[in-house]
Amino acid sequence: MGDTRLTTTNVLSNHFLVAKQCEAFVYVKIKLVNTNGGFVMSKKIGIVYASMSGRNQRVAEYLQAQLAKMGQPATLDEISQFDSQKLLEDDAFIVVSYTYHDGQVPDEALDFFDDLQTLDLTGKVYALAGSSSIEHEHFGRALDYLDQQLAHLGALRATAVLKINLDADRADLARLDAFCRQLIDFMAFQQQQLV
Ligand SMILES: Cc1cc2nc3c(=O)[nH]c(=O)nc-3n(C[C@H](O)[C@H](O)[C@H](O)COP(=O)(O)O)c2cc1C
Repeated sequence: MGDTRLTTTNVLSNHFLVAKQCEAFVYVKIKLVNTNGGFVMSKKIGIVYASMSGRNQRVAEYLQAQLAKMGQPATLDEISQFDSQKLLEDDAFIVVSYTYHDGQVPDEALDFFDDLQTLDLTGKVYALAGSSSIEHEHFGRALDYLDQQLAHLGALRATAVLKINLDADRADLARLDAFCRQLIDFMAFQQQQLV
């Protein structure tokens, strides 16, 4: 059997190697990582958040920091100041939002929510996270409404909707780390499908 190991420590993207082994072509998928152990990507991710008392802003900032550690920069915008058209420039986007009133999308996020319908989001990758409160009947339902809307518009969710009760604790931070990794993996998978 041939030796298929790579010795290069910092390779730039995912590839498929085609090796002829045992008189058959064998596809060897190699996950290529940089020296920090993070994926090297040149994709664009946008994070848009709604936050009244600061929890969801902190979640959004944490996501931005974790993605950066994984080698993936992301922009950060407050939802009421955000031009939804910018979503079209991103390869993927994350919406971070609380839930308000009786299980509703926050008022300052309504324009964003409505504007989604005017965009062609077919095949666009998204992920949803947010802090709300289990004391309320419809825990984190704003995220469910966003999910329904985005799925209806043909966008592709990269990972499970992540709901946090009030302040993020250590377990929540671990879930947010996994959330970032799954988003990056999903984007890499999508890219491979296009090759
Ligand atoms: C008036 C009011 C209504 C709320 N309604 C809901 C609700 O229906 N469902 C829910 O899960 N959380 C509800 N919450 C909880 C907030 O979503 C939660 O406090 C969240 O962490 C706030 O995020 P922020 O600090 O980013 O503003 C409500 C909070 C307030 C003050």
